[in-house]
Amino acid sequence: MPEATYAKGLEGVIAAETKISRVDGENGRLYYLGYSITDLVEHCDFEETTYLLLYGELPDKAKLDEFRKKMRDARDLKDPIVEMIKNFPPKAKPMELLQSSVAYLSGYVEHAIQHSGSCNCRKTLHQVVQLTGVVAGLARIRAGKEYVPPRMDLSHGANFLYQLHGEVPDAFEGEVMDDALILHAEHGLNASTFTARVVASTISTCYSSISAAIGALYGSLHGGANEKAMLMVKEIGDKSNAADYVNKVLDSHGKIMGMGHRVYKAKDPRAVIMENYLLELSKRKGNMKYYEILKEVEAVFRARMEEKGKPIYPNVDFFSGAVYALLGIPSELFTPIFAMSRVSGWLAHILEQREDNRLFRPRALYVGHDERAFVPIDKR
Ligand SMILES: CC(C)(COP(=O)(O)OP(=O)(O)OC[C@H]1O[C@@H](n2cnc3c(N)ncnc32)[C@H](O)[C@@H]1OP(=O)(O)O)[C@@H](O)C(=O)NCCC(=O)NCCS
Repeated sequence: MPEATYAKGLEGVIAAETKISRVDGENGRLYYLGYSITDLVEHCDFEETTYLLLYGELPDKAKLDEFRKKMRDARDLKDPIVEMIKNFPPKAKPMELLQSSVAYLSGYVEHAIQHSGSCNCRKTLHQVVQLTGVVAGLARIRAGKEYVPPRMDLSHGANFLYQLHGEVPDAFEGEVMDDALILHAEHGLNASTFTARVVASTISTCYSSISAAIGALYGSLHGGANEKAMLMVKEIGDKSNAADYVNKVLDSHGKIMGMGHRVYKAKDPRAVIMENYLLELSKRKGNMKYYEILKEVEAVFRARMEEKGKPIYPNVDFFSGAVYALLGIPSELFTPIFAMSRVSGWLAHILEQREDNRLFRPRALYVGHDERAFVPIDKR
């Protein structure tokens, strides 16, 4: 066995090989299967991107048509799932429902992996597609409205807005939503993706692996920064208050949400795309407030950081919350939307794990007691 080294949080440890995505943090680039995220957003939709992630190549037209049909056929929720949403505890968080719903959905599927060891995870795609209906359905049911069945003629993102609002979004808004899903679909071996691979490595099903990954994303250190960035925008209220806000946070050694990234040391390429969408959406909606506040926060923050010789840029979460808010999406759905999108990347990693599986089994460095004499309960 090779000599073991200890790295808290596995920092710097390479725990898997992957061909799925490459993050070039120095130059601010992100690639799925070698294709730049900028090209994918320009030329593909979320369904085609999901095909690329799951099959490793871009599809020809016939393959894409067939895959699109399969994804759309999987859109509508079965009645028991709608009932589950209605009966879920009213105070439970949307991520808890999402995690449970994927485990519940699993009961409808034949899991070849458990019988033959071969994998049929690409077969039905309910575990990828139905997150959208669950998130939209939950928001509607909690608002006292009815679940809206999906439309089959809309992109994945546009259909989400349709199922959420009960109205077909205009073409631009549908495109923005669909592209936001592309941008969040995959990002290497982050905590939730690692979780999905660890669970898959036990030859558990892709549904239980995805359900576990949703649990990992639920934690505030992983998902949730865009919700906090949007709370910040609301707290600032007007761009004239932005400088005071940023200075106060930095003077008290606090964090500005949506700024900085562990891997990107240049501007996050997803933030560049989201910022453009936010600007365009703000103009079309005649509401420049969020955009102006965010740009002022960015300018003041970056100037303060540069004084200290630390060039720190916005990450995707800095702008995405404001984009979602302008699309009429309540902020408690921001992390569930992240899951709706990242599920394609999770499934891609589960499939990759299965190609050359080895059970994840790291060791812990024991720092506890040496052997101790047992003390009977009446002597403690
Ligand atoms: C993502 C994050 C944890 C990366 O932190 P990191 O790896 O320490 O980043 P860096 O090494 O580039 O940070 C350099 C310095 O800038 C500071 N810094 C980085 N991001 C900051 C932020 N958003 N607000 C205030 N200070 C920040 C760090 O605290 C560090 O200060 P120090 O040198 O005095 O310790 C951090 O940027 C952060 O907390 N951002 C806000 C939360 C967020 O948006 N998360 C979503 C990420 S996709």
